[in-house]
Amino acid sequence: MQILDGKQTAAYYRSKVALKVEELKKNGIAAPRLAAFLIGDNIASAMYIKMKEKACAEVGILTRTHVLDAKTPEAEIIKLIKDENADPQTSGILVQLPLPKHYDEKKILSYIEPSKDADCFLPQNIGHMFLGDETTVLPCTPLGVMKLLKYYKIDVASKEVCIIGRSNIVGKPLAFLMLKDNATVTMCHSKTRDLKEVAKRADILVAAIGRAKMIDSSYVKPGAVVVDVGINHIEKPDGKHETCGDCDFESVSKIASYMTPVPGGVGPMTIAMVLYNTLYNYVLIKKLDIKMDIEP
Ligand code: GUN
Repeated sequence: MQILDGKQTAAYYRSKVALKVEELKKNGIAAPRLAAFLIGDNIASAMYIKMKEKACAEVGILTRTHVLDAKTPEAEIIKLIKDENADPQTSGILVQLPLPKHYDEKKILSYIEPSKDADCFLPQNIGHMFLGDETTVLPCTPLGVMKLLKYYKIDVASKEVCIIGRSNIVGKPLAFLMLKDNATVTMCHSKTRDLKEVAKRADILVAAIGRAKMIDSSYVKPGAVVVDVGINHIEKPDGKHETCGDCDFESVSKIASYMTPVPGGVGPMTIAMVLYNTLYNYVLIKKLDIKMDIEP
């Protein structure tokens, strides 16, 4: 079994983005900026925002993080989003989800100017993805999965791909990207009959359920490629905390041909794609003559 090393692969893609940012600066163009909104006191969200800030700094992308408490009036958040929309140097805007329950997520996100959508969460951009357009950004986690497979020269064309989990952020958009690259895709979810049997048909199995260690080797065809998108924080019997995926790594790694670890698999790829999207938006908004070819 070979590890699909997201840390190493993300470093490769970050280095590609860094070269492009450098190219901009050499041509006298200011660096792009990612504007992030961290609202409320979700510990995981704060951690992800820190990782995104660090990764931006590494590649020369500027950041501005709006850290707001859960009592911030909706109107104030919207005003700040509009300010970022109007700032010519800001090309990526993201609101870290989930928001505290009393906010209307959909409404707040809708104020982001679609050309600055760093996550590809807006219906306009999702629509472009659905149509297979190459003119917009793509969702970070699904794009990160595709780039990770590409880096390891795992071709998805004509393969049986099974995606467990139908979220708007991962499962659904990933199915579209896989389909665009000519995979045969099966979407599974909590109501799927005979889930194990369906999953076992897959050449490439993607777990994006959000349930710690749910997938063991009994769901996996021998030799399959397994991509674990889950990031779960669990308490072990000894009281210590552990970050783990949706797969039982020990069990699945005995039977898979390739597998992503957690941490160090899909997570770093998601962050690298936020950087890619922020730069790509900038290139599109400013109509810059910069090729966004970052493939190995
Ligand atoms: N919450 C969980 N994943 C994501 C993500 O990719 N982007 C944002 N903005 N929030 C998230």
